[in-house]
Amino acid sequence: MAETRVQLDIETLLGQLTLEEKASLLDGSDFWHTEPIERLGVPRIMVSDGPHGLRKVAASEDAGLEHSEHATCFPPAAGLASSWDPALALRVGEALGVECRAAGVAVLLGPGINMKRSPLCGRNFEYFSEDPLLAGVLASAWVRGVQSHGVGTSLKHFAANNQEADRLRVSAEVDERTLREIYLAAFERVVKEAQPWTVMSSYNRINGTYTTESHWLLTEVLRDEWGFEGLVVSDWAAVDRRAAALAAGCDLEMPSSGGVGTGAILDAVAAGELSEVQVDAAATRVLALVQRAGEREALPGFDQDAHHELAIEAAGASIVLLKNERDLLPLDRHHGGPVAVIGEFARTPRFQGAGSSQVNPTRLESPLDALQSALAGGRELLFAPGFEIEAEQADPQLVAEAVQAAQQADVAVVFLGLPPSYESEGWDREHMDLPALQVELLAQIAAVNPNVVVVLSNGSAVVTSAWDRHAPALVEGWLLGQAGGRALADVLLGVVSPSGKLAETIPLKLSDNPAVGNFPGENHVVRYGEGLLIGYRWYDSRELEVSYPFGHGLSYTSFDYSDLSVRILEDGAQPRVEVALTLTNGGARAAAEVVQVYVSDPEAAVYRPSQELGGFSKVSLEPGASVRVIVELDQRAFAYWHSARAEWVVEGGEFQVRIGASSRDIRLSETITLSGGDVSVPLEVDSTYGEFLEVPDAERWLHEQLRKTPLGEAVIGTHLGKMLLTLPVSRLSRFPGAGFTEADIKAYLASR
Ligand code: BGC
Repeated sequence: MAETRVQLDIETLLGQLTLEEKASLLDGSDFWHTEPIERLGVPRIMVSDGPHGLRKVAASEDAGLEHSEHATCFPPAAGLASSWDPALALRVGEALGVECRAAGVAVLLGPGINMKRSPLCGRNFEYFSEDPLLAGVLASAWVRGVQSHGVGTSLKHFAANNQEADRLRVSAEVDERTLREIYLAAFERVVKEAQPWTVMSSYNRINGTYTTESHWLLTEVLRDEWGFEGLVVSDWAAVDRRAAALAAGCDLEMPSSGGVGTGAILDAVAAGELSEVQVDAAATRVLALVQRAGEREALPGFDQDAHHELAIEAAGASIVLLKNERDLLPLDRHHGGPVAVIGEFARTPRFQGAGSSQVNPTRLESPLDALQSALAGGRELLFAPGFEIEAEQADPQLVAEAVQAAQQADVAVVFLGLPPSYESEGWDREHMDLPALQVELLAQIAAVNPNVVVVLSNGSAVVTSAWDRHAPALVEGWLLGQAGGRALADVLLGVVSPSGKLAETIPLKLSDNPAVGNFPGENHVVRYGEGLLIGYRWYDSRELEVSYPFGHGLSYTSFDYSDLSVRILEDGAQPRVEVALTLTNGGARAAAEVVQVYVSDPEAAVYRPSQELGGFSKVSLEPGASVRVIVELDQRAFAYWHSARAEWVVEGGEFQVRIGASSRDIRLSETITLSGGDVSVPLEVDSTYGEFLEVPDAERWLHEQLRKTPLGEAVIGTHLGKMLLTLPVSRLSRFPGAGFTEADIKAYLASR
């Protein structure tokens, strides 16, 4: 057992601390530390960015991005998410926890799990997916991994922070069902499954209220409904009105407000607008965090080699093979003519995004270095940079050299991608295209060599349809962290069979995206007009052609899916369903496959997307081997958020369970019938005639009233009656000669 270093008796402390001291605990002491109370032995603790590596800055007051201590740079979330591998995310989390302990960092400020509503969001590289289940499962594992080492996490940015434009003021206008099913669902899963030590409230407003000031979000939903036990910290400088934020449930303001926040809290207490009980509750959470952080000894260091090896594995599992015509890949390492490696990204890799998450890696191997050492003694390698990464104009000489290299080679591996200036925290992209000069270069290379492999480096989807006819093989490398170079070489040369799957759809063009017209909004308002239909929920429901669908990713082997059995383990309002199938590796290489289970509710009382991911499992198989894959689906796989009942409900009826290798490559499917739960809306005076008719006793009562008068004959079972189905019964009672009043309805409803 680890030795306990800090021992705080929180109850006693609360009695000893002055109100001023308690209020001061609710503000940071600088950019990265909480406030200490030295006279009572309360130390300060340090929080640090990342989260795909640790960004521990040298000095406390340093907000700069450039100078942080060296740390392993694992693949950012956009990469790691493509692994669809929670076991791997857990191990990456564990390694991050170790690095934090070695650096004396108490809380790692991540993971970021906002949904990829638009491919243009500048921070998509920090986020996992357009699907809340995938994001939630991976982030839960990651949080458990970090926290298993006694280091906290900060689940961010809570919530609906899906763009950078005007991020500190914009109000996301989202209906509650969409919030619950899409934008809160991943947060809910991580809170319930992994209890992150902290949750970071976002910059933006939701439906007019700053998330930092939203009692509904931070207290009613997060704590009361989901059972969150930790501390809510504001995003850096997200607090607008400190007292309102504290009352809503935002415990800690970061970074230090220089006393402004503390003053506002004390003023509000003096004015009777905040109670000391509220201050105590937040101070208790800060003290509990400090206590927790002190429970484990700091580590003397960490094993950089072992973590780099894990970074190689994680990057390898995250690479997505989008296309592989003529089995161009993998390249034979020993036999064949020269291999042209083209593109500055091969030499100067783009391995993470810019902004607060930027890590200073312990080492960095470029794809060019890795390919050079792997091919040494085998095939000749010809390198040509082809372009400068941030250039706006093509350099004719670089182009000519690249075309010449391609001409002399058997195969051209072309590294294209987004320049760092295209994607960053703080701004969104304006389009989804690669720089034109890269696309032109590709066309010229394809004109002299038919064997072109394109390798992409980008933090969020780019349009491929404009040029992928020039690329018989296409590898989506996302941003892969410090070991991406080696991992890409391993995949290109077949040392590793690719097993990544898209965590976001690659549409044919930006204008197909459902947020178009509602992104990024105007006048501080962004309307989530597409509702539930984000990502594949939109493309699949609308039957739109896409370049590469959600869940897509090829392998160097082939997998056969057979013998599906779907068993209802538990029926009723909280169903559980077991899906089992046999997966066989039908090829000649060991490889991993992600079996995806989609659920479709063909007939429902409410609109439902055509299908939604209900579960998944990543399985590794030796050549020729088979395994029975079992995925359990819980209530949420079938449920929708019933706004009127304010709860998750499963509507009884048929559900289709579809097993796919992507959302568009469904291999097996079976229909089951679930009895579901109660989805009715309680009757009120404003319920309609039609709604009364659906409930037998209400129908009986109402018709008894109507039959007492001539209105009964005119309405019951007649054309007029059908026209009146949408009429609230309170209004019906006011019809001339109705024979009953609103008071009668109320009395009847009360008597039921
Ligand atoms: C970002 C957070 C980050 C914080 C601290 C903010 O601008 O939105 O993700 O953790 O700064 O650097």
